Amino acid sequence: MAAKSSQTMTIPTDAELVQAPADLWRHCLSYLTPMAFSCAIQLGIPTAIHRLGGAASLPDLVTALSLPPSKAPFLSRLLRLLSTTGVLASNEAGIYRLVPLSYLLVDGVRIDGDASQMALVLAVTSRHYMEAAMGLADWFKKDIAPPVPSPFEEVHGAALFEESMAVLDPECDKLFNEALAAHDHMGIGTILRECHGLFSGLQSLTDCCGGDGTTVRSIVKAYPHIKCDVLDLPKVVDKAPSDGLVNYVAGDMFHSIPPAQAVMLKLVLHFWGDEDCINILAQCKKAIPSREAGGKVIIIDIVVDSSSGQMFETQLLMDMAMMVYTRGRQRDENEWSSIFAKAGFSDYKIVKKLGARGVIEVYP
Ligand SMILES: C[S@@+](CC[C@H](N)C(=O)[O-])C[C@H]1O[C@@H](n2cnc3c(N)ncnc32)[C@H](O)[C@@H]1O
Repeated sequence: MAAKSSQTMTIPTDAELVQAPADLWRHCLSYLTPMAFSCAIQLGIPTAIHRLGGAASLPDLVTALSLPPSKAPFLSRLLRLLSTTGVLASNEAGIYRLVPLSYLLVDGVRIDGDASQMALVLAVTSRHYMEAAMGLADWFKKDIAPPVPSPFEEVHGAALFEESMAVLDPECDKLFNEALAAHDHMGIGTILRECHGLFSGLQSLTDCCGGDGTTVRSIVKAYPHIKCDVLDLPKVVDKAPSDGLVNYVAGDMFHSIPPAQAVMLKLVLHFWGDEDCINILAQCKKAIPSREAGGKVIIIDIVVDSSSGQMFETQLLMDMAMMVYTRGRQRDENEWSSIFAKAGFSDYKIVKKLGARGVIEVYP
């Protein structure tokens, strides 16, 4: 018989009883933070502050955004939340400024060569993403034979970045692909500056799942001697720009990867389950020479690390995102190490942790 809860439960102190409802409100209502974020983008707040010279008062913003003056008190409350959550900065004089996060949300401005991340915020706060998350409990209760569809697939009958999504809602599919491209391309400049040895000794590189080649073009600009191939699906390669800098190969990484001294998998493996990752890595191993000849696989992906402070929560949220929206997952170092060994690799090195992501070299 179950023990009576009064016998097992520790009675909270008054201080805890005061704190608990506040924590409850914060957790239940924290979904309003990304909604406020999305609203700021739809209204164009970061772009307006940028165009006003990087600093703006409430009346400046009401005018610049062409809002009815009657909405000024409400806008003030939205701006207060955005400032408190670190999306904007504000001072006692009521002046709002951009911070590094909001620089990423200015329309048409590239920061360190990276496109605006507006599409990412609009995608993850879209109805399709929200409804997938709302279907999580139902998804847990269903005993579905593998391959287990994501809650997104269960709710919508379509998979992100697949033809089925384009059929379901072409406009949202376009937004989701823009968001993916903006998100995935972000940060290559920092990687090139912080991890010089990653590419400097290479003669050739295959960017596996390299999309339209944006990432690899940055690498070639920094290291013009590297011969670069980009492997992606025919539907992507057919639309890729032919600028002569990069050689595009249409194919399927599960069947074959163009040979090179190094194969790069940037933000690829988190999209796939362990068995698929092992198969992809096994193909990478066939494509590279021995370690002595400089053969390596370069992986740029999250390495979940419980000692990484606030980054840990970000990494766990990214893992939940993979669970709700895809069939993939984020991995900690032990999980990475296990799939490297199963794919036949002898060793690896975490070259650098940059923010929530890590850069790993894996050796045959
Ligand atoms: C998440 S993106 C990769 C991001 C990219 N590496 C970057 O850093 O910008 C996924 C890419 O994998 C490609 N892809 C998916 N399945 C593939 C396969 N079987 N073979 C080759 N490419 C594939 C998709 O077309 C898409 O361009």
